[in-house]
Amino acid sequence: MPVSDFISVSRPDAEWWRTAVIYQIYPRSFADGNGDGIGDLVGITARLDSLASLGIDAIWFSPFFESPQKDAGYDISDYRKIDPLFGTNEDFYALIERAHQLGIRIIVDIVPNHTSFKHAWFEAAVAAPEGSPERSYYHFLDGKGENGELPPNNWKSIFGGSAWSRVKNADGSDGQWYLHLFDSSQPDLNWANPAVAEEFDDILRFWLDKGVDGFRVDVAHALVKREGYPDADDRDANGNVVPISTMTEEEAERRVPYWGQPGVHDFIRRFRRVCEEYEDRAMCAEASMSPLTRLAKWVRPDEYHQSFNFDYMHSPFEPVALKKIVTDSLVEYGRVGASSTWVLSNHDGVRHATRYGYKHEDLPAPGDGIGPNDPKGDEALGLRRARAATAFMLGLPGSSYLFQGEELGLPDHIDLPGEFREDPTFARTNGERVGRDGCRVPLPWEGDANAANGFSANGKSWLPQPGSFRVLARDKQEGVVGSTLELYKRLIKERKAYGLGSGAMAWAEEYQDKNTLAYVNNGVLVLTNFGPDPVVLPAGEILVTTQHDLRIEGELEHNETVWVKL
Ligand code: GLC
Repeated sequence: MPVSDFISVSRPDAEWWRTAVIYQIYPRSFADGNGDGIGDLVGITARLDSLASLGIDAIWFSPFFESPQKDAGYDISDYRKIDPLFGTNEDFYALIERAHQLGIRIIVDIVPNHTSFKHAWFEAAVAAPEGSPERSYYHFLDGKGENGELPPNNWKSIFGGSAWSRVKNADGSDGQWYLHLFDSSQPDLNWANPAVAEEFDDILRFWLDKGVDGFRVDVAHALVKREGYPDADDRDANGNVVPISTMTEEEAERRVPYWGQPGVHDFIRRFRRVCEEYEDRAMCAEASMSPLTRLAKWVRPDEYHQSFNFDYMHSPFEPVALKKIVTDSLVEYGRVGASSTWVLSNHDGVRHATRYGYKHEDLPAPGDGIGPNDPKGDEALGLRRARAATAFMLGLPGSSYLFQGEELGLPDHIDLPGEFREDPTFARTNGERVGRDGCRVPLPWEGDANAANGFSANGKSWLPQPGSFRVLARDKQEGVVGSTLELYKRLIKERKAYGLGSGAMAWAEEYQDKNTLAYVNNGVLVLTNFGPDPVVLPAGEILVTTQHDLRIEGELEHNETVWVKL
C-alpha cells in the first residue's frame, strides 16, 4: 500500500499514559450526591461504574481542593484538603480505591502558578511588612507614579483588566501591588523563592502517597516571570493579543515576559524528580505553547510526560489543517521521545459538538464562550461533525483526553442567562466576554427524572441545563444503537482491541481527496469525509461508522468517519 512520507511508531503500553483514554471530570458538574446542586465525590463514586463501562483508562479531576470558588476551584486555599463542598479527604481515598478496583487511574489537578487570596501564605504576606519573607512567596511590587498609584507594569489579566491589584497597609493606607495573571483572587506565586518549590515538593508527595497516579499541571508555562518585570509587548494596534506562535522563540520570551520563560524548565524537572520517587506516575502540562516545535520542549525525557495538544483542539474541522497538525504532533513529540496527546473539548472552551456547528472564523477566541446574544450555529451539523472528529481522534496513536459529557454529544448551553454565569471573565468584562460556563453545565443522567435529569436527587443544579439535555441523558442513550454514548464505547473498545494507542500509523494517500483524510493504524483504516458529498467506502470489515452503525453500504456520507479493518 502506498503510504505518505511519514510513519509513526509509538512505544508499547508499558508507560500507561502514552496510550490512555483519559476522561476529565469537572467535579461540580458530574453528579451530586448530597442534594446541594453541586456535584461531589460521593456522587462521582456512585457513578464510577458508568465510566468503567465506557472503557476509559484514567480520570483527570479538575480541582476539588479547599477553595473560595472564585474561579471554580482553580483558586486553592489548601492544597492538601478536599473542599467540604465536594466531601472529605476520606471520600476521595475511597474513590481512589474504587477506581483502582475498576482499573481506572486517578489524576489530580495541581495549580502551582497561583493560590487563592484566602490561602494562609497570602494572608500572611498581606499582613507582613514589605520585603518580608512572607511577601516573597508572591510578586509584591511598588507601584509607579508619584504615590505608587499606578500598577508596576502593563501586564493584563487573562480574565480582563489589569494583572495587578493593590493591598492596604495595616494603617489603612495604600500599599504595594501584587501580581495575578488571572482573577484578583488568584495571586501568582513567586517561584524565584526556593521556599515555594519546597512547598510544592511536599504537596506532590502528599497526593502521591495517597495513591494518585499523576497530575495535570495548571498553567504550567507561567511559573517564571521575567526578571525586572518589563512591560509586555504582546498586543496589536487594536489591543488584541498577538499569538506567540507568530513570534520567534526569543521574541516571544521578550514580548510576553510571563509565558514560557527559560527558567521554567528547572521547575518541571524538579516535579519530574518527585514523581520518579514513585512508580508509574505521570504528569500532563497545560502549557498553551505554540507551535508544536516549542511545546515539545515541555515533554523532553526529564520534563513533563505529556502536554495537552491545544493546536489540535483549536484546529478547524478541515482536512488540510488537521493533517498538518497530526503530522507535526507525531513528529515533534516523537523527536523528544514523548507520545502525542489529542483533545477536542475541556472546561475552558466551547464544546466541540457546538463549535463544529459554526464557521471556524465565527468562533470566539479559545478560552471564551458563546452567549445568548451571539448568532446560533447548526446543532445537528455540529454533533454530526463532533462524532466524526472523535472517531478520527480515537484512532490515532497516543493518548486522548475526553471531557465529561462529550460521550453524550452534549452541546454548550449558549442561552445561559448572565445572572447564572460564574466565570470571573463575565464579571471582569461586564459581560462583554461571556466566559466558560456554557460548557460546564451539570450532566444529565436520567432523562425522565423530574428536574436536572438525575444530576441531583432533588433536581437542584448550580447551573440550569438546556432543554436539549433531556433526550441526551445517559439513560436515553445506554444500549441504543447509533447513540453517541454507544459510539464512544465502541470506538474505545476497538481502539483497545487493535492496539491503536500504541500503533504504527501512516497516512493512506490512496483514500484521500480534497475533502477526505485517511490513515492506517495497525491495519485499521480510518477515513473521514469532511466534504458535502458521499465518497466510496473502502472494502474491508467495517468496525465503526459514525452515522450508520455498521449498516452502511457503498458510501461514506458527508461529515462521517469510518473504521475499516483492511
Ligand atoms: C487553567 C484552567 C482554567 C483556570 C486557569 C486559572 O487555564 O484550565 O480553568 O481558569 O487555569 O487557574
